Amino acid sequence: MMTSLKITSAASRLLPSATAATTTATAKLSLSSSSASHSFKLLRSSPLISHLFLSQKRAADASRFLRNGCSSYSTVTKCFASDPEQLKSAREDIKEILRTKFCHPILVRLGWHDAGTYNKNIKDWLQRGGANGSLRYEVELKHAANAGLVNALQLIQPIKDKYSGVTYADLFQLASATAVEEAGGPKIPMKYGRVDVSGPHQCPEEGRLPDAGPPSPAAHLRDVFYRMGLNDKEIVALSGAHTLGRSRPERSGWGKPETKYTKDGPGAPGGQSWTVQWLKFDNSYFKDIKERRDAELLVLPTDAVLFEDASFKEYAEKYAADQGAFFKDYAEAHAKLSNLGARFDPPEGFSIDEGSAQPQPEKFDAAKYSTGKRELSEAMKQKIRLEYEGFGGSPD
Ligand code: HEM
Repeated sequence: MMTSLKITSAASRLLPSATAATTTATAKLSLSSSSASHSFKLLRSSPLISHLFLSQKRAADASRFLRNGCSSYSTVTKCFASDPEQLKSAREDIKEILRTKFCHPILVRLGWHDAGTYNKNIKDWLQRGGANGSLRYEVELKHAANAGLVNALQLIQPIKDKYSGVTYADLFQLASATAVEEAGGPKIPMKYGRVDVSGPHQCPEEGRLPDAGPPSPAAHLRDVFYRMGLNDKEIVALSGAHTLGRSRPERSGWGKPETKYTKDGPGAPGGQSWTVQWLKFDNSYFKDIKERRDAELLVLPTDAVLFEDASFKEYAEKYAADQGAFFKDYAEAHAKLSNLGARFDPPEGFSIDEGSAQPQPEKFDAAKYSTGKRELSEAMKQKIRLEYEGFGGSPD
């Protein structure tokens, strides 16, 4: 009961909408306690994780069944990579786990790490990495940069199991965008329909994601993000996602084991956050890095460089001064990141937001089938006109 109360108050301090959340589930959640190597051992031995990978197989079978089933009726209905209605329902389920488990940051990181392996110089979509669901495979989860993300997968696997008509690639990006929005961030102009890669052999090799402490942080960020096709503005805007979450030494090696802002959670306590309210999406990341007044807050070398490099600094200063400008650029950059390397079905993707254009089954258009019709001769038209006039009507 004590734990429950403590978590509730910490949650409501950080996330205004969290006050009514169920806290017992949060107390049970083991998001942080495992070390990286412990996570890997878990991957191999835990019945829970074995279940996770078994579930993935079942879901893949179900999804194949669903798609094949649909294609037999393809003259009437077109099935896309994900089903729009199921995606909408999945979004509600994601909101529910956000409300109860305060896992916004790790879901954002999950989406980013699936998409961020993209290499624009590789043409073959199975090799180029990106938002293709490959991060569900053990071999990629074991990359050092992904330490801890098995917990994110574990959180959303039940949603994947529930909606066989939703791909992992879409679900990861849906979870990330929904987490940003639910934490108070901007509405992300997302599209869906991402196709999943189908086997662990299609995972990208280790080493495509950025390091936090490279010898030359600005050059490193440019190497990695330019390879994805992103520019300086997008590097700075996307780094602003660190307004959410914490770094944990037992996962990445960065950050303190706990601070006064993280020792009570919410969620599993511990780690070092970049901002005081680390479940609230705003521009405080830029303000805090600029001021550096609070030693309890984290600044990675790749964060610090945003105010050191002349080109990055222009944007970092702007975002520290103007939250609206940050939100606008962040939303665009996040949507772009979420599409990297993705193969869409339908090719143009689709939105699941109200009022947006949804792909529709093709409408029956009689005119399309009348192209061979011959024009009536003038004599025949005159004959018909006379017949109509004979009984007081009009051919028009
Ligand atoms: C610019 C290069 C980046 C570097 C070097 C970097 C590095 C890191 C590191 C070291 C952590 C701590 C992980 C842990 O210990 O659990 C982290 C966490 C995080 N990163 Fe980044 N990151 C970068 C860019 C991004 C981007 C582009 C996004 C999203 C758009 C992002 C979102 C996050 C989030 C939300 C967390 C917190 C996760 C949690 O609390 O569980 N990062 N990042």
